[in-house]
Amino acid sequence: MTGRLDGTTAVVTGASSGIGAATARALAAEGATVALLARRRDRLEELAAELGERTSVHETDVADEAAVRASLEAVVAAHGGIDVLVNNAGYGKIEPVADAEWSNWRTMVDVNVLGVFAAAMAAVPHLVKAADGPRGVADMITVSSVAGRKVVKGTNVYAATKHAVGAFSEGLRQELAEQHVRVGLVEPGLVRTELTQDPTSGTAEIRDNGYAVMEASDIADAIVYAVTRPARVAVNEILIRPTEQTR
Ligand SMILES: NC(=O)c1ccc[n+]([C@@H]2O[C@H](COP(=O)([O-])OP(=O)(O)OC[C@H]3O[C@@H](n4cnc5c(N)ncnc54)[C@H](OP(=O)(O)O)[C@@H]3O)[C@@H](O)[C@H]2O)c1
Repeated sequence: MTGRLDGTTAVVTGASSGIGAATARALAAEGATVALLARRRDRLEELAAELGERTSVHETDVADEAAVRASLEAVVAAHGGIDVLVNNAGYGKIEPVADAEWSNWRTMVDVNVLGVFAAAMAAVPHLVKAADGPRGVADMITVSSVAGRKVVKGTNVYAATKHAVGAFSEGLRQELAEQHVRVGLVEPGLVRTELTQDPTSGTAEIRDNGYAVMEASDIADAIVYAVTRPARVAVNEILIRPTEQTR
């Protein structure tokens, strides 16, 4: 069976659960070789065993710039290049400022912002090189959030981190367009994942709303759509909510 991403290598950060794991599965189903990054090696190895030979596991804390760089160099050494980077690793604690813990704020900035910057900086030279190859294009997709478009009361630092990566992504899009690196954002509303099921995540109010939320595979579908367009088409932004989510 031929896939639309045959011959490509995709890096997915935060591939050990939720949207990242679903995206790794969807990219592999399209024929991509998938490099799986996250901290929980056992989860990555389980997924790699499921996906078969064309995968590699890179235990990485995205908040550690040197570790991210080393992992991406290992991906290039193993697979020959990077055609697609999915910046997905993220952390969220929705807590009002009066109850907030500094360590949670710090982790959101470290993972959601600096982690994205680090992976982008390490990947860009390889994406530019890949775009010069037979596919004629390369892709960087960052998983932001509805919170990157709209601030809802209580989302303070989480929304700030997602707005930051929105600005960053648009900046890189403009810089890299002429080199045929497509830089896009996917902005999900509520998705059923470990992040939103965690009772301490602060998402109970939106979780227990009685409507059907999205599944991780719904976001993976959006990412696959973006990276399988013809080389002349760049999907810059996809805002995607559960049908009944109003905010
Ligand atoms: N679920 C939603 O409703 C929703 C909505 C909008 C946006 N998002 C965004 O979607 C992305 C994925 O989240 P999810 O909902 O799929 O949650 P999840 O199931 O909790 O997945 C988060 C992933 O990020 C990884 N991660 C966290 N900290 C990391 C670190 N320091 N280094 C490397 N990897 C790290 C985790 O892996 P390890 O713990 O193994 O490191 C895990 O694979 C996040 O950016 C989140 O902000 C989610």
